[in-house]
Amino acid sequence: MTPKEMVVTLRDRYADEIETILERYPAEQKRSAVMPLIFMAQREEGYITGSAIDEIAELLDIASTQVVSIVGFYTLFYANPGGMHRIQICTDLPCALRGADEFAEQVCENLGVKLGETTDDGQFTVEAVMCLAACDKAPMFQVQNSSGLTYYECQSADDVNVLVKELRTSPDDLDETVSG
Ligand code: FES
Repeated sequence: MTPKEMVVTLRDRYADEIETILERYPAEQKRSAVMPLIFMAQREEGYITGSAIDEIAELLDIASTQVVSIVGFYTLFYANPGGMHRIQICTDLPCALRGADEFAEQVCENLGVKLGETTDDGQFTVEAVMCLAACDKAPMFQVQNSSGLTYYECQSADDVNVLVKELRTSPDDLDETVSG
């Protein structure tokens, strides 16, 4: 068997789910299924691979670059592998005016990474993102992991240290929004 023949495609893994997603849209509008397909493709690996991007484009009769642009636009889609928990700190202007940059720097320093990097144990990736719609509650961030998405508002670097400890011990035990 050649390496190419061994590649497992999305269609191999998720045939039924793909069909269910596509059925939600009229055939001439099937490109509208791009986001649920990306979400599905990302679920297992935690990011969307180049081959998955090509396959989604092929399924929807659109260009791969269109899929890439959607992956790049949304903070919940990833083109690269990351940690088990993605700590996404808003550093957009209103949050920056409330100290988000310094906060992000401190969080990174405590975890021993730079923005965009993952801790050596593969647990945490720290990222700077654009507005998360909690501008008056900075410093704020969201954590994305296999449990979903959790918001943390009015946080300090010490709060993050406590959270990191909790996530290392009980990664599934998160509230939806936490205010400091
Ligand atoms: S600018 Fe940070 S949440 Fe809006």
